[in-house]
Amino acid sequence: MKEKMIKRTEEFVKQVMGRDSTGHDWHHIDRVRRNALYISNKEQFGDPFIIEMAALLHDIPDDKLNNSQEEGRYKLISFMKELDLPLQVKEHILEIIFSISFKGGNNPKVISSEAEIVQDADRLDAIGAIGIARAFAYGGKKGQPIFDPGLSVRENMTVEEYRNGESSSIHHFYEKLLKIKDSLHTLTAKEMARERHQFMEAFLTQFYSEWNGQA
Ligand code: ADP
Ligand code: NI
Repeated sequence: MKEKMIKRTEEFVKQVMGRDSTGHDWHHIDRVRRNALYISNKEQFGDPFIIEMAALLHDIPDDKLNNSQEEGRYKLISFMKELDLPLQVKEHILEIIFSISFKGGNNPKVISSEAEIVQDADRLDAIGAIGIARAFAYGGKKGQPIFDPGLSVRENMTVEEYRNGESSSIHHFYEKLLKIKDSLHTLTAKEMARERHQFMEAFLTQFYSEWNGQA
């Protein structure tokens, strides 16, 4: 019964986000799902079904993939309505999804520990080798330069500035990616983040030395 629901949810998510090229494709969802379940298992915390459902659906209402916030919410809520689950479980899944997005640091406070686990898994996918690949894929899609030494690093952005202000993909490392390791909730995710963080730092060092013509 739960297995069937997971399968159905996978199909729905694949159909909605399959061809996205901003780094939010099906494989991102699948990695977040697997990492969330791994963290939950390691921490011996959280209901695996709720975590898996929330991870699978977490980007459905994302503002980048919808014309408006309402449209995204509607898409998610209409799918959830059809599922044969107790209201309380549905509400918990929705609560996780609506509380995890980063959005330049202006996201609402995370409420449940399950939400912390899914948020950790989502944030882990934005760092390390995968995170680097996603940042440049997203930047290219948005039409922003790989790097622009003339721009300064932005602090305390509004959501609008975070999404549409002038920046470069290298700047995104300072505005978000290098901050992620200190924003994680679970010990398991913090451990997983260490190597990924070091890898990004090494990448930046190499990037600048090539940029400056020393490598
Ligand atoms: P979330 O995964 O919390 O929804 P975003 O939607 O902001 O976060 O970002 C999705 C992916 O795109 C992440 O890997 C993120 O690092 C990358 N990304 C977001 N904004 C930028 C940007 N301005 N430049 C480069 N990459 C970005
Ligand atoms: Ni995501």
